[in-house]
Amino acid sequence: MPPAGWCLLWLGLVLASVCASLESAAPSNSTTGISSNYSDDSPYSWSIPPYHPSSEKYENTKTCRGPDGELHANLLCPVDVADVPEGTLPDKQSTEQAIRLLEKTKTSAHPFFLAVGYHKPHIPFRYPKEFQKLYPLENITLAPDPQVPAGLPPVAYNPWMDIRQREDVQALNLSVPYGPIPVDFQRKIRQSYFASISYLDTQVGHLLSALDDLQLANSTIIAFVSDHGWALGEHGEWAKYSNFDVTTRVPLMFYVPGRTAPLPEAGEKLFPYIDPFDSVLERMEPGRQVMDLVELLSLSPTLVGLAGLHVPPRCPVPSFHVELCREGQSLVKHFRFQDLEDDPSLRGNPRESIAYSQYPRPADSPQWNSDKPSLKDIKIMGYSIRTIDYRYTVWVDFNPHEFLANFSDVHAGELYFVDSDPLQDHNMYNDSQGRDLLRSLMP
Ligand SMILES: *[C@@H]1O[C@H](CO)[C@@H](O)[C@H](O)[C@H]1NC(C)=O
Ligand SMILES: *[C@@H]1O[C@H](CO)[C@@H](O)[C@H](O)[C@H]1NC(C)=O
Ligand SMILES: *[C@@H]1O[C@H](CO)[C@@H](O)[C@H](O)[C@H]1NC(C)=O
Ligand SMILES: *[C@@H]1O[C@H](CO)[C@@H](O)[C@H](O)[C@H]1NC(C)=O
Ligand SMILES: *[C@@H]1O[C@H](CO)[C@@H](O)[C@H](O)[C@H]1NC(C)=O
Ligand SMILES: *[C@@H]1O[C@H](CO)[C@@H](O)[C@H](O)[C@H]1NC(C)=O
Ligand SMILES: *[C@@H]1O[C@H](CO)[C@@H](O)[C@H](O)[C@H]1NC(C)=O
Repeated sequence: MPPAGWCLLWLGLVLASVCASLESAAPSNSTTGISSNYSDDSPYSWSIPPYHPSSEKYENTKTCRGPDGELHANLLCPVDVADVPEGTLPDKQSTEQAIRLLEKTKTSAHPFFLAVGYHKPHIPFRYPKEFQKLYPLENITLAPDPQVPAGLPPVAYNPWMDIRQREDVQALNLSVPYGPIPVDFQRKIRQSYFASISYLDTQVGHLLSALDDLQLANSTIIAFVSDHGWALGEHGEWAKYSNFDVTTRVPLMFYVPGRTAPLPEAGEKLFPYIDPFDSVLERMEPGRQVMDLVELLSLSPTLVGLAGLHVPPRCPVPSFHVELCREGQSLVKHFRFQDLEDDPSLRGNPRESIAYSQYPRPADSPQWNSDKPSLKDIKIMGYSIRTIDYRYTVWVDFNPHEFLANFSDVHAGELYFVDSDPLQDHNMYNDSQGRDLLRSLMP
């Protein structure tokens, strides 16, 4: 059991609900929480009102200096921070606020849970321009599989409408729905994505080194997670709206003092800030990597359990109107100091070795609202399972009023084998090998 005063720090890229509202861009209003009914997921989540950085409102406005010297609402938006409204960026403000909160909890000596939701690398790529230097354009490669795969069912493809609305992308006059984007612009998107990630890394670095400074690193559990991935040209896509690995997989890192790493000695710096612009980059010891399949549903029971709190009961089926329950299970068994892959008994039960996802579509072919259909417009649901060996997706008829999927009415299917096709470009759904597998899955 962890000692009293155990603390949790949850670091994440922006939450899905916030993304949706930012994209809907009502500039004069605080638009947070459109998908959570403007409630920021209360009542269970937060004991104090969520902080929203004041400079967030400029994210989608004309603050990006273009080659014409004018300000635009661009996708690619490296900025001089001294030059932007308020002279700061939302993620810098969030880091500062998080450190202020840590200082406060330090003096009050109460256990805490702090969730820090960062915006980058979410679009637009609005970041301090010096981070571009870390990724010279001439070194940027394209996605290994930049073509729309021949066997991809049209329903599985998403036309990445949101980036097309940015002024710099509009100027490319791309064809809808398949593009492609000119390769020099593909390189620029990838450069800005990588630069945004390095900018985010520095924010995480500042925050973690504050934990050291405040002597909280020996009693704080840290989870680093993102809510989705993003295709950077893979399958000819530039978005998150799909069931491919490239968008469903996320980074997931844990630090549990004394469990994933030895407890730090008094005065020891576990998280020294490493400046990416230093010519000699210090390298930290890499963490331990685990190849097991897990799901984000397990984050909550893991953190609740590690904090020594009561883990709510597993959700019944159906779980509408159940006040408090959980899906997923504790991931603690994955933290042991030993090579998990050598020991099959540690792989967990079969439920755990499947990761589920789903994505809705309004039509069988890509159209203006394929990326984000309203509930009432959903006609097809893509249900997907990922095992250690394959990804299998069926796009089936869906009734949005009853929330009913009809698995007898399959519009299209996808099957990719991990070993022979790690990038998921060769759909084996109709192949004899695929048929055999699918038959073996039937009850
Ligand atoms: C912002 O929008 C929400 C939802 O439409 C509305 O309830 C609220 O009054 C608006 N706030 C301001 C300051 O305009
Ligand atoms: C959304 O919030 C409004 C105002 O607080 C409330 O009246 C309404 O019932 C909420 N809707 C849902 C679906 O929770
Ligand atoms: C860019 O590529 C060159 C040639 O391969 C290499 O020497 C250089 O270190 C690379 N720069 C960066 C920042 O990765
Ligand atoms: C699989 O077969 C169906 C029915 O013949 C066809 O409509 C579909 O295009 C095929 N899919 C692939 C990926 O070949
Ligand atoms: C955009 O593309 C369309 C179709 O390829 C072409 O007809 C049109 O002239 C182009 N517009 C510009 C501004 O390049
Ligand atoms: C953490 O370190 C501080 C300062 O060295 C010490 O006072 C405290 O007891 C330690 N807490 C734990 C849980 O080890
Ligand atoms: C499910 O789809 C099948 C095949 O199209 C159809 O015969 C059946 O009526 C559908 N079931 C429902 C409940 O709509």
